[in-house]
Amino acid sequence: MTAPGGGPDAPHRPVLLRESLHYLAPARGGLFVDATLGLGGHSEAILESGGGARVLGFDRDGVAITFATGRLARFGSRFRAAHADFRDIRRVLEEAGERALSGVLADLGVSSLQFDTPGRGFGFRHDAPLDMRMDTGGVEETAAELLARLPEEEIARLIFEYGEERRSRRIARWIVERREQGRPIGTTKELADLVARAVGYKRTDRIHPATRTFQALRIAVNRELEGLGEFVETAVDLLQAGGRLVVISFHSLEDRIVKRTLRRLAGHCECDPRAPACTCGARRAVEIMTKRPVVASEAEVEENPRARSAKLRACEKL
Ligand SMILES: C[S@@+](CC[C@H](N)C(=O)[O-])C[C@H]1O[C@@H](n2cnc3c(N)ncnc32)[C@H](O)[C@@H]1O
Repeated sequence: MTAPGGGPDAPHRPVLLRESLHYLAPARGGLFVDATLGLGGHSEAILESGGGARVLGFDRDGVAITFATGRLARFGSRFRAAHADFRDIRRVLEEAGERALSGVLADLGVSSLQFDTPGRGFGFRHDAPLDMRMDTGGVEETAAELLARLPEEEIARLIFEYGEERRSRRIARWIVERREQGRPIGTTKELADLVARAVGYKRTDRIHPATRTFQALRIAVNRELEGLGEFVETAVDLLQAGGRLVVISFHSLEDRIVKRTLRRLAGHCECDPRAPACTCGARRAVEIMTKRPVVASEAEVEENPRARSAKLRACEKL
């Protein structure tokens, strides 16, 4: 199956697929929410797992919805798609008349469909408008618009925080200097070249020096960390007893939010022990199934380098 927009010819193998299925246990049947449908790889495996499980797949990217809906059409009414943000899971389920989920999966971040489609501006292998919006029909600003508007300190902060880039202030200075000369950054290549010149590029570098800056901008454009903790809480709320939640994250900030929220939902209070009462909202709603995050095997990383930073956490509703 060929992805639209010049994307990958064959959908990549979904990240941590075997491990996701192990924790989700879809052969139990019932309704599963795939919060991040993407190319539909995880959903397909859930639908194929026996037990007649149904899947409701969310994606904020209309191209992903069209692609996955075509791929999963053979499952008939067992698969439905919602072109929606997973942070609206409660409203969408209510509107669909659904409740008591058997499982929820969130495989966060961008899909290969988005990353490998040149015109979307997520990568810099091809020159393209610096867009990076997952939902191109949504209200978010493009990455170019963000860089044209934000103050220098704010650009430096987001590149530092979301990109874990030590040289963020220097990169932000160069971006703003260019803007002040009346030449704001408009394309992926302009940004990649500027970062390479700002920080220097050695042939021995393992990754291109702009990789972290691109990651940071993508997270900022799509507000990927906002509401993630609330989503985890709502998803747990919507699970039936014995239902499972599996979250795969690719960034330490994302993983920290998931880890802390799950700990609170498992009853670990984060309040000052001297406080007279708990105010952090800790309650015993889940059992954490992964004491440590599950990571990809060497073989998977070799086949798919993106799996290197994947961390999977899972819990079961009590
Ligand atoms: C890593 S991909 C998922 C790949 C998928 N598991 C598969 O097997 O093909 C992540 C997808 O989640 C979508 N996404 C990210 N944040 C979202 C959000 N807040 N709401 C809905 N979809 C989101 C992205 O548009 C992207 O298509």
